[in-house]
Amino acid sequence: MRPIPEFKIGPIPLLSAIRFARDPLRFLRQGFDQCGDTFKIRLFREFIVTRDPAFFRHVLQQHHKNFKKGNSVKLLRPVLGNGLVISDGDFWLRQRRLVQPAFHRERLHELFATMGELTAAFLEELEQFRGKPAVDIDAKMMGITSDIALKTLFGNMNTEDKEQIYQQVSRTQTYLVTRVRKPYRLPLMAINGEDRRFKSDLAYFNSLVYDFIGKRRLSGETPNDLLQLLLDSKDEETGEQMNDEQIRDEAITMFAAGHETSATGLSWLLWELAAQPDIVARIRKESEIFDNVPGFEQLIQMPYTRQVIEEGLRLYPPAWTMTRESTVDQEIEGYGIPKGSSVFMSIFELHRNPNLWNNPGAFNPENFQAETVKNRAKFNYLPFGAGPRICIGQQFALMEMQLVLAALVKRFDFVREPGATVGMHPQIVLKSTNGIKLYVR
Ligand code: HEM
Repeated sequence: MRPIPEFKIGPIPLLSAIRFARDPLRFLRQGFDQCGDTFKIRLFREFIVTRDPAFFRHVLQQHHKNFKKGNSVKLLRPVLGNGLVISDGDFWLRQRRLVQPAFHRERLHELFATMGELTAAFLEELEQFRGKPAVDIDAKMMGITSDIALKTLFGNMNTEDKEQIYQQVSRTQTYLVTRVRKPYRLPLMAINGEDRRFKSDLAYFNSLVYDFIGKRRLSGETPNDLLQLLLDSKDEETGEQMNDEQIRDEAITMFAAGHETSATGLSWLLWELAAQPDIVARIRKESEIFDNVPGFEQLIQMPYTRQVIEEGLRLYPPAWTMTRESTVDQEIEGYGIPKGSSVFMSIFELHRNPNLWNNPGAFNPENFQAETVKNRAKFNYLPFGAGPRICIGQQFALMEMQLVLAALVKRFDFVREPGATVGMHPQIVLKSTNGIKLYVR
C-alpha cells in the first residue's frame, strides 16, 4: 500500500489548526497543490483530505457501510438531535424510509403552490428597494428561503416567531462553528455568556416546535405541509410512527439543512449573474413563458435556467464539505485507511479539480448541457452528495432555486457596487466574507 502524503506547514500542529480556522479554503488548496488529490493533515486530530472522485465513490456508495458520520457533524447533535443528518445505522435507515415519502414528486408538486405564493409576495417586497442603496442580498435570500422552509414545514407562523428564528439560527451557527474550529475558546465561551445564550436560543426553538406538534395533534386538521407528513408517516413493516421527539429532530433537521443552503446558492448566483449579461438575457428569454412566477410544469421548459443553477452549485457548493469516519481498516485507491480515520471530502475542491474540469474557476453553464453531462463521470459533481445518504431535499431545493431565480431575473436587474469584490467564508455552508450587496434596478 502506498503512504498518504502529509501536508505540513511546520512542526507544530496548532499552527496548521490556526491557519485552517482562519482561511480553510486557501489552506486546503495549498495542501492539494503540494500533495495531489489526497493528503493527510494534523489539525487538532488527523484528517485524510480528498478531492478524488474515486474516494467519494468508495465512501459514499460502494463501501458506505464501512463509514459513519464524522465527529464534527456530531457536534450539531444538541440542535439536530438524532435527525437524518446526524444518525447512523439501522436507526438512520428506518428514519430515512419514514421521511422519504414526504419528498415524492406529487408531494413536491403540492408544496410548490406555497413556494409560488411566497415568491410572488417576495417580488413585491423587493420592489421597495428598486433604485435605492445596495441591498444585503444574503439577508434577502435567507428571508425568502426560510419563509418557504417554515411554511412548507409548519404551515402558518407569526412574524414575531419568524424574526426570532432568523436571528437565532445565525447566532447558533456562529456558536457551533466556533466550537468546532476554535476549541481553545471553549473555556471562555462557558463564562462569557455564549454558552448560556445558545442554551436559551435552543430552549425557545424547542418549545416553538413542540408547541406546533402538540397543537397539530390536537387540532384534528391535516393541512398539506411537511409536519403533517411526518406525523402521518408509518413504517411499512411494523406500522410504527414517530414520537414527538423524533418529529422534532426531523423537522429541525429539515429546516436547518434546507434553507440556508438554498439561500446561499441563490446569493452566489445573483452575484455571478450581475456580471454576466448574456446569461441573464438567455434566462429572460426562457422566462417569457410565464408572467410573474413560473408554474410547476413550466420549470421543465426552462432547461437553460436549470443549467445556470447547476453551474452555480458547482462553483459555489453551499455544502462545501462532507466528513465520515472509517469503521473498519480498509484500502481506498491503494492507500491504507485504518479504522477510526476521519475522511474530509471537499466538494468545493472536487468541483474545481483541474484534472476534472476545463477552466474550473470560470462560471460556465455550458458545463451542464445535456450532452456534456452525459459524458461526465457521475462522481465529478456532487453538490447534494451521493449514495444512500444523498440529500433528501435535492429536488425540493432545485425546484425552489429555479422558481426564485427565474422570477427575480425576469423582474429585476441586479447590479454590483463599483469595484465590489467578495471573498468566500466557509462556515457550515459556503458563505461570503462580508456579505453580498447588490443594487436592485
Ligand atoms: C441547495 C440546497 C442544498 C444543498 C446544496 C444540500 C446538500 C446536501 C448534501 C451534500 C448532503 C449530504 C451530506 C452527507 O452525505 O454528509 C445533504 C443531506 C441532507 N439534506 Fe440537503 N442540501 C440542500 C437542500 C436541502 C433541503 C431543501 C432539505 C430539506 C427540505 C435538505 C435536507 C437534507 C437532509 C435531511 C440530509 C441528510 C440525508 C441523510 O443523511 O439521509 N437539504 N444535503
